[in-house]
Order: sequence, then C-alpha cells, then structure tokens
Amino acid sequence: MSDVSTEAARRRTFAIISHPDAGKTTLTEKFLLYAGAIGQAGAVQSRKADRSTTSDWLELEQKRGISVTSAVARFEHDATVLNLLDTPGHRDFSEDTYRVLSGVDAAVMVIDAARGVEPQTEKLHAVCRARGTPIITFVNKMDRPTPEPLEILDDLEDKLGLAAHPVTWPVKPEGRFEGVVDRRTQVTYQYRSDVGQGARIAQEDESAVAQVATAVQEELELLDAIGADLDRDAFLNGKATPVFFGSALSNFGIRLLLDAIVGLAPPPGDRPDAAGEPRPVEAPFSGLVFKVQANLDPRHRDRLAFVRVCSGRFERGASAVNARTGKKVAAKYAHAVFGRDRETLDEAYPGDVVGLVNATDLRAGDTLHEESAPVSFPPLPTFTPEHFATAHPADRSRVKQFRRGVQQLDEEGVVQVLRHQDLGDQAPIWAAVGQLQFDVASWRMEHEFNAPVRLEGTRFDVARATDEDSVAALDAMRDVEVYRRENGAPLALFRSAYVADRIEREHPELTLDTLILS
Ligand code: G4P
Repeated sequence: MSDVSTEAARRRTFAIISHPDAGKTTLTEKFLLYAGAIGQAGAVQSRKADRSTTSDWLELEQKRGISVTSAVARFEHDATVLNLLDTPGHRDFSEDTYRVLSGVDAAVMVIDAARGVEPQTEKLHAVCRARGTPIITFVNKMDRPTPEPLEILDDLEDKLGLAAHPVTWPVKPEGRFEGVVDRRTQVTYQYRSDVGQGARIAQEDESAVAQVATAVQEELELLDAIGADLDRDAFLNGKATPVFFGSALSNFGIRLLLDAIVGLAPPPGDRPDAAGEPRPVEAPFSGLVFKVQANLDPRHRDRLAFVRVCSGRFERGASAVNARTGKKVAAKYAHAVFGRDRETLDEAYPGDVVGLVNATDLRAGDTLHEESAPVSFPPLPTFTPEHFATAHPADRSRVKQFRRGVQQLDEEGVVQVLRHQDLGDQAPIWAAVGQLQFDVASWRMEHEFNAPVRLEGTRFDVARATDEDSVAALDAMRDVEVYRRENGAPLALFRSAYVADRIEREHPELTLDTLILS
C-alpha cells in the first residue's frame, strides 16, 4: 500500500448530528477528554463562553450567545486519527450545517432518549440520506427516565426510515439505569454515575456482573431471535444504523462509541466526481471546500477556507488549481484548525481538513486539484430556504457598495440572493435556511462593506427548487413567484407551506424539490 492509502485507512472523518440539547457539546467534550486532546472538562463550553478578546465580529457572537466560528477537532483513538467536523447545528443553524456534512464519511447521531428523534435531527438526517452517509446512533441521557428501548428503536425506524440495530442494550430494571450489555461479547458494563465532570473518563467497568445481565436476558434473547444484528452493507449505504446507549454527561458509553467509529465507520474512500466517476484516494491531491469563513479571528482578519482532502497528499506550499476558475491557489498558509486556535500544518491526507488562509477566490463547493490531475466534485446540496427578506440599502448614496456586498455574500453562501426578472438588482430577496444568516449578513454589510441594509419582510414562507420546464406554469399561478439564483437556477416561492403542498399535489408534472442540487 502506498503512503496515502495507509494514512487514509487510519482516518475517520465524521460529524455529530443532533437536535439542540440532545448532548452534542457534552459528547464532543468527552471524546476530546478521552483522547487526551483537552485536559479539562468544560473546555469546549468555555471556548463558547470565552469572549474576552472581544472584536467587532465576536461582538455578534457574544450578543447572540452563539458560536459563529466552527471547529474541526482532531484527535486519536486506537492509533486512528479522528477528524470531528463541528456542524453549527443549534441556535446557529445555517447552510454551513448542511455543507459540513459534505465533508464527512460518517455521522454520529445523538438522540435524547426521552425525546426521541426531533425536527433538527430529521433535517440533518435527510442530508445524510441524500448522500448515503453511514450513521452511528448514540442514545444519550439514559441516566434519566426514558421510554422502553424498543420504543426508541421504533421511533428511529418510523421517523427516519432507518433500520435500527442495537449493538449495546440498556439494563434498566424498574427504570433504574444499571448499565449496558455489549450484544457482540455479552459483556456487561456497569453504570456508575460520574457526573463529576471528567474526573474519571470512560469508567465502563468490565466486571461482567451476572445479575445485571439476567435482568435483560429475555430481551437479549428476543433481539437475537428477531435477528437485530447489524447488516454492514445496509449501514454503509445509510439504510441501517448501529445503536449504542449511554450517558455523555456521566462518561458512560463513550469508549464503546469511539471504538465503533474506528471499527465501523468507513475510512475515506474513492469519491465520485461530478460525472459520477470515482476519484481514487491514491490519486494526486484533490480537495473539497466545504465552508468559507470570513474574519474568523480578529487577530487574523482574513478569509479561511476549510478544505477536506479527498485524494492524495496535501503539502503546504504546493499549489493547487481551483476547478471552477482554473486559477492557481497558493497553499502557503495552511492550518489545522480547532476552534479559534490554529496550528501550521505541513501535510495532510484524505479525510483531513485543512484551513487555507487568505483564500479570497474560494467558495464553498469549490474543488481544488493538483494541476496534472484535474477533477471536479459535484455541487454541495442545500435545502430550500425557509426565511426570506427583501434587502434595501439603508443609505441610498451607497448603492454601489450595497451591490458589491450583496454579491460577495451570495458568492460566499452567507445568504442566497434571489432576483425577480422584472425587478433585477433593485430589491433582491435574501433567503436562508436559518434566521442567523440574516444577522451575520446584515452585520457584514454594515461593518465590512459600509453599506447598512434595511430588511423588509416578504409574503413568502417556503421555496421549492424547480426547473425550466415548470417555470411558465408556475409563473401563471397566483400565490407563486419564480425567482432566480445567481447561477440562474429557478426557485419557486410560495406564500405558505399549505399552498406549496396543494400545488405539488394538484400538479405532479411540475418539478418542486426541497433539496437544491446545483
Ligand atoms: P447540545 O450541545 O446538543 O445542545 O447539548 P449539550 O451538550 O449542551 O447538553 C444539553 C444539556 O443536557 C446540558 O444540560 C447537559 O449537561 C445535559 N446532558 C448532556 N448529556 C447528558 C446525559 O447523558 N445525562 C443527563 N442527565 N444530562 C445530559 P444543561 O443543564 O442545559 O446545561 P449545563 O448547565 O449542564 O451545561
């Protein structure tokens, strides 16, 4: 095996998807603690809270109590390099959330045991399903009152259409959480509450306590009888999910989950290009820009492009070509990125994430490749927007700056800019999947482009991606307007979800999709 294949084989690149409050932050922190990547519990939280170096940009974060910056955490477990890409999936839900999922090979889905599958989990799962991303499920908060485990599995199957295969099984006689049994080995791990925030990590106790397991003996036999074992192919295609039970807060079930990421999640593999041809991991360097962040850190006032290495070896200083523009991109300043800290990086392999500084020409979705071996990866999918506002320059004398700013934000994908053919540039509509995108965009218009905006509500509530064949029919309807994105792609805007559903039902011949693929 070449260097590149060996290095790729020992990498796992994944994200955590969850609904707010399911425990993503807690779990991330426990992963990092377990791997020794951070020394103290609370470090992830305090990163969130550490706003002492206030800048203009961070002021926005502080005001909203959100983390606009996104972290890529890298740590090792069992001689494997784990790259954990943070999905800004909470109050700061935005298109970035979806884009990040294009950079991963697997996802850990965290479910709050008591609440089951929640709306944001469903949305994020839909992106994973569209890409066939394998999903490992962690049922969290087992230390609290929960429904019967079989009900939790049914919920996964009902809401997400995922066949749920329990790898561990909770022992919870009379509602008391006593541990989990690993169904593969029959070893029982006894639960001991360790809410002491990280004093002891991964305390799963391998004492196979017989009486604990007997409490669930019948359930285990039943599971064996119905054949609830993981079908690996179905998992790799995103159709079945191995399920683990635990409690992130009490450090319980973390090691088994990490083992599963190493043992079950796929390493970086050949990636289909825009024509559907696989780009082998050993091919010369190629990478996908899945996120561009402006002004991440006041000490580095620049734009940082996050590139996921897809094939070959990335070397700092080597130059690559941007497939969209044909222009060379100097990778002189490459960084490994974790939160706001940066470390200079000299080489990276498939699955790794590199931050390119001063990448002014790069946009989310761009492909980079070594000059001698061109490739172009398919565009990043995004959901149709759910928030709309008409943008006007607050100061009429600054229309030029306004236009420039709007164009720049559109290119970066901070908001989607939609135009009506009769109105042109006059009053573009800003569209977003998360409300926060408007705050970020308005803030940047004012502070970066010196063109404050006035946002006005629209009469639209939902959008669907459509095609040229459907445009004329849609245009003729009441309650629908066709707008176009920068690349000309038509988007049908509706007054309400009700109207959109009705038109979809009455006109099956029209193309109306919730996922935008170009
Ligand atoms: P998120 O990133 O998905 O939004 O969730 P986060 O980790 O912040 O956790 C949300 C809340 O759930 C936190 O409580 C956290 O302590 C709690 N939690 C996480 N895992 C478990 C678990 O396994 N068991 C129990 N019982 N609770 C858990 P909080 O009160 O909102 O915040 P905090 O004051 O504890 O930080």
